[in-house]
Amino acid sequence: MNNEIIKIPNHVAIILDGNGRWATERGLKRNKGHEEGYKTLKRISKYILNRGTKYLSVFAFSTENFNRPQKEVDYLMNLFVEAFKKDSKFFIEENIKVVFSGRKEKLSEKLIKVMRDLEKDTANNTNGVLNICLNYGGRAEIVDAVNKIIDDKNGKISEEEFKKYLYNDLPDIDFLIRTSGEMRVSNFMLWQLSYAELYFPRCYFPDFLEEEYDKALEEYTKRDRRFGGLNNE
Ligand code: FPP
Repeated sequence: MNNEIIKIPNHVAIILDGNGRWATERGLKRNKGHEEGYKTLKRISKYILNRGTKYLSVFAFSTENFNRPQKEVDYLMNLFVEAFKKDSKFFIEENIKVVFSGRKEKLSEKLIKVMRDLEKDTANNTNGVLNICLNYGGRAEIVDAVNKIIDDKNGKISEEEFKKYLYNDLPDIDFLIRTSGEMRVSNFMLWQLSYAELYFPRCYFPDFLEEEYDKALEEYTKRDRRFGGLNNE
């Protein structure tokens, strides 16, 4: 693809949907879909950030995902611990800075430790930020920010000041992708999504590889972003 005519969004967000269906349609256990989804996540993060996007946010586990069967929750929690331990090398080599968004409550001490270590080990990396949303809810992020403000401040607050109280210092999302054909935002990054372009490819997340992302970028390039005004861009 030609970068001169393709627009590169500064902040891409992905709702990683369809791991379970990817697996069951192949006669496999749902967990196999999550394992495959993680392989795709590594590969596509590297690709997206190498193409010039500076921020990539992914929805790895919502607050509501704790309502899944305990066995699946345990599997995912264990996958997170193992992945963040094993792959700190990958993120360091790829020069990707990893940050996490979400509540720490309900996460094990072991998981919180590997998350902190990964954030620390990659803090000075410069080839883009991967924001992993884990035990994350968009409304919870806003309420958590309001509670910090109540502790901190008297008087009125502007949008710019408010932003500083969110989990991480991230710019607005330009492009939201949700795989698997579902067309919902599902409580993901409600503040940051205000002016995002939305895109819903039919493929399941494990199949969302380079070619699918190239198609997504072609679609993004065609969008006329007006931000409530009349002019282009
Ligand atoms: C949604 O698909 C996916 C999840 C709830 C988990 C997403 C997690 C990963 C891709 C692994 C990421 C790993 C790390 C280490 C960040 P689903 O299970 O809802 O699929 P379905 O809608 O087909 O059932």
